[in-house]
Amino acid sequence: MCRNYKQLLLLGVVFLSSLAVADQELPPLTEPAVYISCISCHGPDGLGSEAIHAPPIAGQRAAYLEAQLLAFRSGERGGHNADIWARQMALMSKPLSDSDISSLAFFLSQQPRWAVPAVKADQTPTGFAVCGSCHGEKPSAAGDLDVPQVWGMPSEYLFRQLIAYRDGIRGHRASEGSPNVMSQIMNSSMTDKMLSEFADYLASGVLSSAAATAATNEKQK
Ligand code: HEC
Ligand code: HEC
Repeated sequence: MCRNYKQLLLLGVVFLSSLAVADQELPPLTEPAVYISCISCHGPDGLGSEAIHAPPIAGQRAAYLEAQLLAFRSGERGGHNADIWARQMALMSKPLSDSDISSLAFFLSQQPRWAVPAVKADQTPTGFAVCGSCHGEKPSAAGDLDVPQVWGMPSEYLFRQLIAYRDGIRGHRASEGSPNVMSQIMNSSMTDKMLSEFADYLASGVLSSAAATAATNEKQK
């Protein structure tokens, strides 16, 4: 009995030390030295600066961050003359190695994210249902879908991205035969006004008064 107990205890110790080894094999959560080159625009906390058009990146999904940094570096994003803020970011990504990019993406994804707006409106902008199927109909930080978190980002940034997708300026992978999903969703029937309503709603969780009237009319039809 006593002997079995000791054996169990020994097994437990062996198990715990194997866990400790597994822990050590995870990538370190320390800030990669190269993050110093990001601070001037995205801030020490990665929460960005609206004044200089740099979006929050802390707490964003790692796979999305990695894909964007690779896209900036290859010029797939920020390669178009009209995409001025993305061009600036593309320049910043040129010196990054593959391993810089993966450690930045992992580190940033583990940092506290920007605030998600409270759910205030009981309506969504007209035409928003399609967006909700991937990004969520109401403000949320959760969701298991493999899409970027967009709720609570600055409206100006969101609006600029939506226009850029619609106009084929951002991330069009036509050359590889797999166009960006957002460019496929955005089409010329989406007016600037609709996109600005989507951006405001995603940023604040509130419908602008024009969007609220349109949504009410839609409901009554
Ligand atoms: C000179 C300012 C500047 C510096 C320095 C900078 N960025 Fe940016 N970054 C921007 C701007 C502006 C944008 C928005 C681009 C756009 O509107 O398409 C951006 C966008 C991004 C995005 C895309 C976010 C999204 O939601 O799609 C990522 C990721 C990013 N930056 C990471 C970094 C990292 C990592 C570094 C450091 C290696 C860095 N940035 C350095 C200005 C900067
Ligand atoms: C099929 C799923 C899907 C649907 C539907 C969808 N999105 Fe997206 N969205 C994505 C994915 C995936 C990305 C990342 C695309 C990329 O790599 O550029 C994205 C990116 C975005 C971005 C850029 C985020 C950033 O940080 O730069 C915004 C803004 C956005 N979506 C808003 C919308 C709006 C508004 C709608 C409705 C009109 C919509 N999305 C519909 C999947 C979706």
